[in-house]
Amino acid sequence: MTGRNADINKSPLVIDVDTGIDDAVALALAVGKGANILGVTTVAGNVPIEVATRNTLDVLSYLGRDDIPVHRGASRPLVAEYQDATHVHGGNGLGGVDLAKSGADEAALAGPAFIIQSAAKHAGDLTLVTLGPLTNLAIALNVRPEITYQIRRVVVMGGAFSLPGNVTPHSEFNVYVDPEAARQVFEADWGDITLVGLDVTHQTVLSRELWERIPEMNDGPAGLVRGLMARTFTERAMSGFYLHDPLAVGVALDLDLVQGTFCSVAVESSASATRGETTVAAADRGPRVATRVHAAAFVAEFGAVLGLPIADAASGFENAE
Ligand code: RIB
Ligand code: CA
Repeated sequence: MTGRNADINKSPLVIDVDTGIDDAVALALAVGKGANILGVTTVAGNVPIEVATRNTLDVLSYLGRDDIPVHRGASRPLVAEYQDATHVHGGNGLGGVDLAKSGADEAALAGPAFIIQSAAKHAGDLTLVTLGPLTNLAIALNVRPEITYQIRRVVVMGGAFSLPGNVTPHSEFNVYVDPEAARQVFEADWGDITLVGLDVTHQTVLSRELWERIPEMNDGPAGLVRGLMARTFTERAMSGFYLHDPLAVGVALDLDLVQGTFCSVAVESSASATRGETTVAAADRGPRVATRVHAAAFVAEFGAVLGLPIADAASGFENAE
């Protein structure tokens, strides 16, 4: 993914999304990289489940991949009251971008059932990357605990381990929305699970300077990225766009992109004053919490894959979103 290892992970991949803006950009990256995408499952997070599912169908159709099945998942967290992020992603979840409606319908099988089915069918080989609250994975884990050894690799975009959260000072959004699901996932005995938290995603930022250089008329993936990010850079006047979900996809395709340490991870429940806070302790097994990332190389290659004008990768912005 970063030139150091040109071969991407071609194992079968399931992507779990709450399609909002950066989920859509992450899907564009996965498609652009030629990932072996079995299907996409949707979960309530940034936007309600029906919006996340609609957006996912339309983004995949825009990318010419309406062959990839979309499986609707959980409409609300396990315990907590559902809370969206439409103030960030806009009412339609895509920053106001109005995509043509896909001709494809959502698949009949529900999201958690598709994760279970894919784990069994591709036992020992499946990679699952989650880009939203962990509700679907927790449900699948509850119903078929054996997925912990069937799924070869789990990559989670979630958590704030050594820096403040983005939805409260304590909590990152995906964990905050469904802390009970996150706790169940983080405590399960996976063979290989990597947590891509704000600690590293705050280093992978698409600069406003680079965004402004994307041609207006480009109707390919670059045009999609430009349209999706317009709200962040204009209405919200941010100076950078955090590539949260795209980085998690990058890690799923190239585990060497980040370095980390094995930890036990405690999650504050939805009833706690610090709901969704993640606290780590050193461990000799358990989730690998990403602490370092080849940020400049990732952003540069992200730009290359999506056909953005290549610029020096920028990182360390103060008020990105
Ligand atoms: O905290 C960032 C995460 O929350 C991203 O996955 C974003 O899409 C939102 O779901
Ligand atoms: Ca997301």
